[in-house]
Amino acid sequence: MWQRLLDTVTDAARRHPDLAFASSLAAEDMVLTHAIAQSGATVHVFTLDTGRLPDETLAMIPRVRERYGLALDVVHPDADAVEAHVQAHGAFAFYESLALRKACCGIRKVEPLRRALAGRSAWMTGQRREQAVSRTELALEEHDETFGLYKFNPLAEWSEADVWRAIREFDIPYNPLHDKGYPSIGCDPCTRAVRPGEDPRAGRWWWESSDSKECGLHAGNLVHADGQAQPLRFVPRG
Ligand code: ADX
Ligand code: SF4
Repeated sequence: MWQRLLDTVTDAARRHPDLAFASSLAAEDMVLTHAIAQSGATVHVFTLDTGRLPDETLAMIPRVRERYGLALDVVHPDADAVEAHVQAHGAFAFYESLALRKACCGIRKVEPLRRALAGRSAWMTGQRREQAVSRTELALEEHDETFGLYKFNPLAEWSEADVWRAIREFDIPYNPLHDKGYPSIGCDPCTRAVRPGEDPRAGRWWWESSDSKECGLHAGNLVHADGQAQPLRFVPRG
């Protein structure tokens, strides 16, 4: 399994010398970072610092740079757009409506991602099929219609246990929030711990229904096989 991952990463980087890997610094992405470093493949690694990331996630940035000697690129949102959104809607508007949540993700994640991918022919993510109802059909590689380039999801078939086996086996550094009940980690105000046995993504945008839990980075996951975008449902709190 590990050798197959190394081969996939190496092959993707050979086919796309401008390949970029989007790392959220969560467990899956640390496994991929380790695989990239071990394979010796040339891959541009970047993280989107939304400005609302937990301290524990931010603390992973120097750890990754030190451990792997990687020039991890940190991409920030447009400060004026953030300021205008906060001025107009407040700092916690994402709890009010799905539209405002999507607008915040648009400014803090999607636009910076678009910038990070501009001019590139392929990108790579740490998504897994098991992670969400919107990811059960996730392909190992696909054309990303949203951003107009190729997309690799080398961990698509991996289970959570596979991820943690690799982390233990290779002593891969990981976000300490994973040990505190956070299987999936995003922005601080939009992520909370889950109880044992609860859905791993239950702590992400927990006030929304599970079929809308994509932030726009992987909008293609919400498109039906017939090419129609899936309507997003919003379930109010309480
Ligand atoms: S999200 O779309 O719900 O936020 P999730 O946290 O499951 O995504 O992560 C899925 C993949 O999206 C990660 O493996 C990573 O490739 C990418 N990703 C998510 N958040 C970030 C981020 N802040 N910076 C870079 N890549 C990210
Ligand atoms: Fe904004 Fe929350 Fe989306 Fe982060 S996850 S960009 S804070 S709405």
